[in-house]
Order: sequence, then structure tokens, then C-alpha cells
Amino acid sequence: MAIKAEKTRKNLDVESIRKDFPILQTKVHGKRLIYLDNAATSQKPAQVLKAINEYYTETNSNVHRGAHFLSNKATTLFEEARNTIAAHLNAAPEEIIYTRGTTESINLAAYCYGEAFVKSGDEIVISAMEHHSNIVPWQMICERKNARLKVIPITASGELKMEEYEKLLNAKTKLVAITHISNTLGTINPVEEIIALAHAKGIPALIDGAQAVPHLKIDVKKLDADFYCFSGHKAYGPTGIGILYGKKHWLEQLPPYQGGGEMIKEVTFEKTTYNDPPLRFEAGTPNIEASIALAAAINYINATGLENMAAQEHELLQYATAKLQDIEGLRIIGTAKNKGSVISFVVGGTHPADIGVLLDQQGIAVRTGHHCTQPLMRIFGIPGTVRASFAFYNTLEEVDIFVKALNTALGMLK
Ligand code: ALA
Repeated sequence: MAIKAEKTRKNLDVESIRKDFPILQTKVHGKRLIYLDNAATSQKPAQVLKAINEYYTETNSNVHRGAHFLSNKATTLFEEARNTIAAHLNAAPEEIIYTRGTTESINLAAYCYGEAFVKSGDEIVISAMEHHSNIVPWQMICERKNARLKVIPITASGELKMEEYEKLLNAKTKLVAITHISNTLGTINPVEEIIALAHAKGIPALIDGAQAVPHLKIDVKKLDADFYCFSGHKAYGPTGIGILYGKKHWLEQLPPYQGGGEMIKEVTFEKTTYNDPPLRFEAGTPNIEASIALAAAINYINATGLENMAAQEHELLQYATAKLQDIEGLRIIGTAKNKGSVISFVVGGTHPADIGVLLDQQGIAVRTGHHCTQPLMRIFGIPGTVRASFAFYNTLEEVDIFVKALNTALGMLK
């Protein structure tokens, strides 16, 4: 019944890996698809698609309501998936909350932590490179509680100014919320150091790991993160599933997020008592098949080997960066020393959206715009960028085709 772990591969054979991803055979506008929008969402291997299909053909039933065989089977798979995800992060299963995605994970943490611990005059520290999902939920709690948002500035290359960060931490700081890898700049932030500096002043830290979990080995204990969030769909799993990891002692102190379903212990019209974490935070029927399929995605990652995947992605990043830098007038936004496989750029007076359309016509998928980081765009003085983001199933040959197509596009826009 359990989701089986796969056999580990020694090296990455990209051509054979690509066969695991049926969508990579798709043609777009009559051209071979070159998918370079992995930071927005990753493609899914057959193993994940199979887990979804098997769930609906062999298991479909509601969880935690086990009067019959299928319900017990669904519950077992759902909780085994939680165990797989917990083990992957080096967490305990009761510290793993299922959500709809990173955005909901951060909203849940911001709401519940804010209700319990934030009061008038307090401060929350974020950074200038945060995704809107790690800005707006904190602004909302600040408005509700009359607290203030403090922002760590960044350098021209897109790195956090760590000495400014240290200065922002004080007795009023109630939480630090920082992205692990910037979705726009690709910067890998020194989160272990960020957390340690916060903890030295008794302040907890939340890490937005949406862009990190698909590419880096995350050990929440080693990082000592108080909260860590990620989405299934960027990590080769389905959409509509995400994870909020929270240290047990924090989760135990937080009030519920939503009411109904499995979040209760007992309900009377006078009073309701709440369940223990994680169920306290999981009101309503959860996304059962997506949880199981996310565990299948994690098994796939482990079988493929995160080091193998990261090595391929690093090579793609280096190769593409060098090739793009040769294009006249092209400016890369985000040149941190330690970067994930994301390249954002602008070219002369061209508009990113026009480049996106012309690339699409040549079968190449990139993202254009502000990437849900409008404040960051303002800092760089640009309306948006073109962003190419790589996964381990991309090839150097695809980079060559992308660069050639970009030159064709730029020729047309002159
Ligand atoms: N946050 C996702 C991105 O950067 C959607 O594209």
C-alpha cells in the first residue's frame, strides 16, 4: 500500500531523465518545447502522474473518517506521505502541516503567529527581495496589530546587506521572514546565519523555501528554522499542495487558522476545543491525492539525487550566464555570488513582454514581468525582466537554442 521509494541513480543521464517527463515531448507552435519556466512551476515525472492516477482508480475516499476499507487506506497513504515529507526535511510528522502551497503556508503562519504573539508597536523583519507572498501576509498582520514591517536592504548584485540586517534586530522584533532563494534574482541567502543572528536575540525565523526545496537538501534541524514553507508544484509534485513546517513548541502555542473538519477535539454550541498540531491547522477535506503525489515527487528527487540535480542546474546556470552576457545591451538582474538556476535580464530599450511573446513563438517558455516582486523591481528601476529558470532536465543544447531564439527576437525588436 505504501508509496515505494525508488532505486537511487548514481549519475544523471539527462536524456533518460527527460523520458520521465512526458510533457517535454510536447510541440508548441509547431516547435519543440523548451521549458525554461521552472521557477514558476516544474514539470511532473510519470511517477507523480501515476500516483495521482492510482489514487483515484484504487483508493479514492475521505481521510480520518475510517469506517471502511478505502477510507482507512486513504488515511494510511495520506499519513505515510506526511512521514515521507517530514523525513525529507528532517522534521517530525507532527511538525508538517499540509496547505495549498507556500502562499497559504506563509498566510497561516503570519495569521496564527500574529494573533498569538504580535502586538502594537512590534516589528516584523523581511527583505527587499521577498515575493509578494512573503510581504503581504505580514503587512496584513501589521495592519491588524498596529505593528511595523522592517525591510533588509540589498546590494546592487542582489545580496542582503547583512550588517543592516543585524541593526534591524531589536527588542521589538517579533519575527524574521526571509526567502531562501529569490525567485527573481536567484540569490541564495545565508539562511543559517540569518536564523542564528535572529535566535541570538531570541527572535524566531520563518524561511520561504519555495525556490529552494526543488534544488537544495533542506534540513530544518540543521538550519534551526522555526518555520519553513514550500510548494509541491515547484518540486515536481502537483499544484494545490504545500507544506508549513513549524517547530512543535511553536505550533502547540498557535491558535487555529480556519474552523471545521479535523481541527476540533470537541464541539458544543457553547465552546469548541481544538485538536493537536498538525490537524489543528488542517480544517476541511485536504488535497489527499496531491499529498500522496508530493511524497512520490520526493521519492523521485531522492532517487535521482539532489546533488546530481544541483550539479546539472549549476552547469546550466554557468553556461547560460556566459552566453547571455555576450549579447549586446543585455543586463542580468541578480548577480550574487551564490545563485540558484534563475537568470533574470533586461535588454536595452526592449520590453520583457515582447521578448516573451517572440520566444514563445519559437517554442521557448520563459516568464516575463515583475515576478510578484514589485518592490524589488522598483529598487532596480525596471518594470520587469525576462526570466529563464532551469531544472535538471534542461540541457546545454536547449540553452543554445534559447540564446539563438533570443537573438532572433532582439533582431525583430530593433
Ligand atoms: N512564484 C512563482 C514564480 O516566481 C510563481 O514564478
